[in-house]
Amino acid sequence: MKKYIIANWKCNKTIAESLEWVDYVGINMTHDYVHEVIVCPPFVALPDVSGLIKQKGYNIMLGAQSVSHFQDGSHTGEVSARMLSGICKYALIGHSERRTNFGETNENVKAKVINCIQNQIKPIVLVRDMSDVIPDSVKMFAFEPVGAIGTGKATDTISAGEAILGFGNGYIGIYGGSVSLENIRSFIDNASIHGVLIGSASLDPVNFVEILNALHQFG
Ligand code: PGA
Repeated sequence: MKKYIIANWKCNKTIAESLEWVDYVGINMTHDYVHEVIVCPPFVALPDVSGLIKQKGYNIMLGAQSVSHFQDGSHTGEVSARMLSGICKYALIGHSERRTNFGETNENVKAKVINCIQNQIKPIVLVRDMSDVIPDSVKMFAFEPVGAIGTGKATDTISAGEAILGFGNGYIGIYGGSVSLENIRSFIDNASIHGVLIGSASLDPVNFVEILNALHQFG
């Protein structure tokens, strides 16, 4: 069964480092890879990474780590969904770091979702618990409990699967939070979990390819 493997680099990697990662992963991952691999580089690297993926025909999809809740206009420093259109297939929306450090609200998340959909970008809404709302027309979300992010303390697979089901039926429900080479199989093997979002363990391309190719053997 096809699952989603999402690499979220957060505020890491220059353009050159981003291209190096994509080249390494693109060349070394199995050509007919069964799962959908999505990488989310920093904004500045997106155009170059997109060009490289197209030029080399790598089996890697591109996502933005965020998007403005505004449309084009007088919003200094913002990147609108229209600017990302044609570059990114996906956008992460409402990561807990955005909610906590940048004050993103459920209202902002809703506006971002609308902007993405209007610009042919698939929103992936990140939720910490049931108090974070998944807006209408969102098909894909990632459950990332705060205590599991960057701590090395991943939620156990059964609780993660139950939490994902708790948000309702019909979603593509992803788990994120301290996913690693050691524990990824248990999440991917769980029928209620449709993929994983990987932060720290996605940064090293060698480690990331090991993760991908370990999963490939089990389709
Ligand atoms: P982590 O980050 O894998 O480093 O825990 C996941 C995330 O925050 O998306």
